[in-house]
Amino acid sequence: MNAFANPAQAPIAKLLTLMDGSARFARESVHRAAAEFGPAWETDFSAMLSQFYTDDTALLDAVKGYAAFVMDSMRRQKRFEKELSYPAKTYAEAAAEVYYNDDYMRRQYLPGLLLSHYLWPHHYQQIEYFKSYFLPWMRARQVLEFAEVGVGTGIYSRLALQNDVGLRGVGLDISPLSLQFTASHVASFGFASRYQTRQQNIIEQPGEQRFAAVVCVEVLEHLEDPVALLKGLKGLCSNDGKLFVTAALNAAHADHIYLYRQPQEVWDQVEAAGLHMENCFFANAYAPTSPGQPVPSALAMVLTPKA
Ligand SMILES: C[S@@+](CC[C@H](N)C(=O)[O-])C[C@H]1O[C@@H](n2cnc3c(N)ncnc32)[C@H](O)[C@@H]1O
Repeated sequence: MNAFANPAQAPIAKLLTLMDGSARFARESVHRAAAEFGPAWETDFSAMLSQFYTDDTALLDAVKGYAAFVMDSMRRQKRFEKELSYPAKTYAEAAAEVYYNDDYMRRQYLPGLLLSHYLWPHHYQQIEYFKSYFLPWMRARQVLEFAEVGVGTGIYSRLALQNDVGLRGVGLDISPLSLQFTASHVASFGFASRYQTRQQNIIEQPGEQRFAAVVCVEVLEHLEDPVALLKGLKGLCSNDGKLFVTAALNAAHADHIYLYRQPQEVWDQVEAAGLHMENCFFANAYAPTSPGQPVPSALAMVLTPKA
């Protein structure tokens, strides 16, 4: 029997067909993710593909963007394996090259990142942790409004809104392209009336509003001073609230400028920012192929503000 022959899986079958022409190497990651993550992955991935990418041209562009994103990451990771450091780059340089670069964000970065959330095992495991640990707490605590900082593709905001029909959210980012992409992602699921986006850098413009739940996924490694961001996140969170914060370790990308080698380096910064780690999750992207090879990994943490 063909894989993904069931009508509910048609969006994934279509994705595979489009990958045939322009990203054959990526097909394997679709089959691997389906085998590892099962029906919940298939349902969410199919919904995202069919609701966000409503025509084949847009989906084909996303496949091409993902292929370019993967090739670029692999090239940078090979260089990192040799040099064991990220090329020196200031935050301002990374922002100009990536977050404010219209063509790069639209064509490669945002579609690449969105598909990676489903196709890279450590990215999807991080989503599973968010769904199984943080979202149930948000519902039990009856959180009415959350904030996400550094929304990127908007996937974490959309998952939170999907989990609770009474929830409202605010997405903050410095990049107008990320904010537009997130707004259309959230709108494609019918949640636009419960969500606002705002161009804001919480380090420079902290704001007055406090939220019971604050989410920040894969932003720390993008900064020269991640502790300043952690303090900003703490400032956004009410005293009895919780934060879901992640960091990418040993992962070379165009906009990764702060190199975390070990989880302890992140935990020390969490402590320095006046936050307490309640729980965490850690996953490698793949097993090392030789002793000492640095491997990209995801560290996700649930934090509480210290008094
Ligand atoms: C790798 S993406 C984050 C991934 C995203 N959370 C997702 O789930 O798709 C990094 C994002 O952080 C944003 N960013 C970088 N510096 C920021 C800052 N100081 N404040 C808010 N957002 C920032 C970038 O514009 C970009 O959209």
